[in-house]
Amino acid sequence: MSEKLWIFDTTLRDGEQVPGCQLNTQEKIVVAKALEALGVDIIEAGFPISSPGDFNSVVEISKAVSDPIICALSRAVEKDIEVAAAALKYAKKGRIHTGIGVSPYHIQYKLRSTPENIIERGVKAVKFAKRFVEDVEFYAEDAGRAELPFLARIIEEAIKAGATVVNIPDTTGYCLPEQYGAIIRYLKENVSNIDKAIISTHCHNDLGMATANTISGIQNGARQAELTINGIGERAGNTSLEEVVMAIKCHQSIPVHTDIKTEKIYGTSRLISKLMNMPVQPNKAIVGRNAFAHSSGIHQDGVLKHRENYEIIDPKEVGVHESSIVLTARSGRAALKHHLDNLGVELEGEDLNKVYEDFLVLADSKRDIGPKDLLELVGKYMDESSF
Ligand code: KIV
Ligand code: ZN
Repeated sequence: MSEKLWIFDTTLRDGEQVPGCQLNTQEKIVVAKALEALGVDIIEAGFPISSPGDFNSVVEISKAVSDPIICALSRAVEKDIEVAAAALKYAKKGRIHTGIGVSPYHIQYKLRSTPENIIERGVKAVKFAKRFVEDVEFYAEDAGRAELPFLARIIEEAIKAGATVVNIPDTTGYCLPEQYGAIIRYLKENVSNIDKAIISTHCHNDLGMATANTISGIQNGARQAELTINGIGERAGNTSLEEVVMAIKCHQSIPVHTDIKTEKIYGTSRLISKLMNMPVQPNKAIVGRNAFAHSSGIHQDGVLKHRENYEIIDPKEVGVHESSIVLTARSGRAALKHHLDNLGVELEGEDLNKVYEDFLVLADSKRDIGPKDLLELVGKYMDESSF
């Protein structure tokens, strides 16, 4: 059996930071229960110091959910950590996620500090969080642009202070897959106590690399991935859960497995999209409307002969009932025949050719061709007995 990849869902924290996507506590509970049913291991439920509403949501999610670890975010600030701990009071398994910026940008311009002081503050935060919970995750914000020897030092000190998980965020979505993987490998090779903690990926999608970077991190030793449903999140979003989970399922060369119930992916995606009022782009991998829709004649013919000619995933595996053969002016006879067969109209040879010619004329002028259009076309050529 391969090693387990811990799935850390941050839809309710990083995802919910998207303008216009805010949820109320009741809606967050619905999402948290859906995430639990999906099989995620950790739910990052919020940033309790940020508002009374967020605090309350973490409290209520902690009460409502049993299996996943409930995680609360905090800065490396005692008051944040105290409030996060209070919000986790009812969690069966609680985790505090604390950390600090580690790139030259963050150290100099955001925190106006020095590398030594950053290490001190990070260590102090982890030790303080350990007073409340055993499970403390340390994030090294903007690790994607950090100097590696410094990153290795702070990670080593955070683990010494008691961090159980060390999160290596590519906060600005800057890295290329090879670079992000190399950061994880560097930590594996240069942090003496790295085996005492789980390394976590946390990637943003500013260059469209979030999934590739996450996979590269896993291939280089990360064993937790921080993800959101539909890839929602700040700016261009976070790594999408469905993409990582299905990439792992499709490629046995990625040496991990997850406990995600993949057949619940599509339903969870729809739920989040609806509650957050955030449409999913039609060509989004795995969950987009067109992810299993075939529209060109060559592909339609191929997929009708054998599904795997053009599909690497059985749609049922992710909870999509079936793939669709969309009728457009690029469709071929095989697609037309498939739709006619479904309507109980069996046409072959010349009859099919004639209907196909008329179909192409119609499809050039009309975007959606439905059963009613097809029956009208057929009606021109067939007498009643053919139906
Ligand atoms: O992107 C990031 O660095 C974060 C941290 C707060 C974990 O979201
Ligand atoms: Zn983030």
